[in-house]
Amino acid sequence: MKKRIGIVFGTRPDAIKMAPVILELRKHPDEFIPVAISTGQHRQMLDQVLQVFDVRADIELDLMRHNQTLNGLTRRILEAMDTLLAENPLDCLLVQGDTTTAFGAALAAFYRKVPVAHVEAGLRSHDIYQPWPEEVNRRLAAVVTQLHFAPTPLAAENLLMEAIPAQDVVTTGNTIVDAVHKLLEMQSIEHPLPEGVPDDGSPLVLMTSHRRESWGGELENICDAILELVEGFPHIRVIYPVHLNPNVTSTVEAKLSNCDRIHLIPPVDYFQFLSLLRRCYLVLTDSGGVQEEAPIFHKPVLVLRKVTERPEASLLGMAKIVGTSREAIVREASRLLSNEYAYRAMAAGECPYGDGRAAARIATALSRWLDGERPLLHDSEQFQDAGSSQQVSIGSDESVEQVVEVIGDELAGQAEGRGDGVC
Ligand code: UD1
Ligand code: UDP
Repeated sequence: MKKRIGIVFGTRPDAIKMAPVILELRKHPDEFIPVAISTGQHRQMLDQVLQVFDVRADIELDLMRHNQTLNGLTRRILEAMDTLLAENPLDCLLVQGDTTTAFGAALAAFYRKVPVAHVEAGLRSHDIYQPWPEEVNRRLAAVVTQLHFAPTPLAAENLLMEAIPAQDVVTTGNTIVDAVHKLLEMQSIEHPLPEGVPDDGSPLVLMTSHRRESWGGELENICDAILELVEGFPHIRVIYPVHLNPNVTSTVEAKLSNCDRIHLIPPVDYFQFLSLLRRCYLVLTDSGGVQEEAPIFHKPVLVLRKVTERPEASLLGMAKIVGTSREAIVREASRLLSNEYAYRAMAAGECPYGDGRAAARIATALSRWLDGERPLLHDSEQFQDAGSSQQVSIGSDESVEQVVEVIGDELAGQAEGRGDGVC
């Protein structure tokens, strides 16, 4: 008998990571009836993604409110999902990641005794306030989940450490890699630069920052660091598609809107963002998804957080956690902008987050689970982190690291003296 599978999403990253799953389940009409459910936690930023993937929600809850609170949104999701689940019997509900949509929908499904499967399960920072509230959202979702799709071996290990039975955990790769592959198949991502950004060959620094735990002082530090960087490196341009959260826009616009070489732009669609990722020289971000995508394009990432639940790229030397202090951000970015050796060391390596086959693994495991088969995936069918073998060669070569460090510091020092205070 065909199984009705709900796939719920509400934010931009939920949709990017669920689109490949929806498209995959639709390939098996004899087995699954996929029901795409949007909470509408986001509006414009969600619609941009759905258009690109040509995916429509079968059910739209339209729950976003201006400057919504966590409690208010959670309440609306619980109530709306409760009604939806009462009217639409499902054999399983798939939730994704760590947003309020993921947690709220998982809890609502549990209260209706609808089995929950969690995509991107097992990410942990081990600090409930970083990222806030996402670390707790994903831990709470795990408690009511029956089937855990861990993106990487490390995420699977985290779940086993929490005494989740190994037979309920499968390692799939992150579906964001499938999303990127799909887009590269659909269209060229060689887009012109966004309106207002001169295409003059300047090295581009692509940045995003929106985390709740950084609002206020830390986001101001990040902005100050960007100002200092463009002063110190008069040949670069910074492109910052600013998240629509008013708590982000107010700070960012107040700090950064008056500099010629800092381009604040509205959120861009996914084709355009990937095009920027391909063209840019360096990425500064606190985004989860961007941390996962940048290594696909071999772009070094400086992570604007104190801790990350996605440590794989930094373990491989492809990303570095720099936190939110102005000095640290300027120091590390200057190093990469001025030292080719340091830059190349970070640009090397393969993306550790997936291989583009996550959605297919999820569909197979889901089908076996619904039929009561075990194991859900044989070891050889699961995603093996291809990058982990390189961990030793890149991360542990101290002599190379030291040489790079010394040259980097010298050049960064020179670069710092070059600022012409253009802002
Ligand atoms: C949410 C997620 C965060 C994720 C981010 C991705 C939670 C708790 N947070 O944060 O994990 O990293 O999405 O972008 O789930 N807004 C718009 N239009 C939009 C989207 C947002 O106007 O398309 C504005 C609204 O005023 C809205 C506010 O942003 O109330 C906040 O949105 P919300 O989803 O609550 O939080 P984010 O900061 O976007
Ligand atoms: N993204 C996008 N347009 C933008 C900025 C980001 O399409 O203007 C994409 C980006 O490629 C990534 C995702 O949005 O896949 C990340 O979303 P976000 O940073 O909002 O959330 P997070 O991943 O931190 O939860």
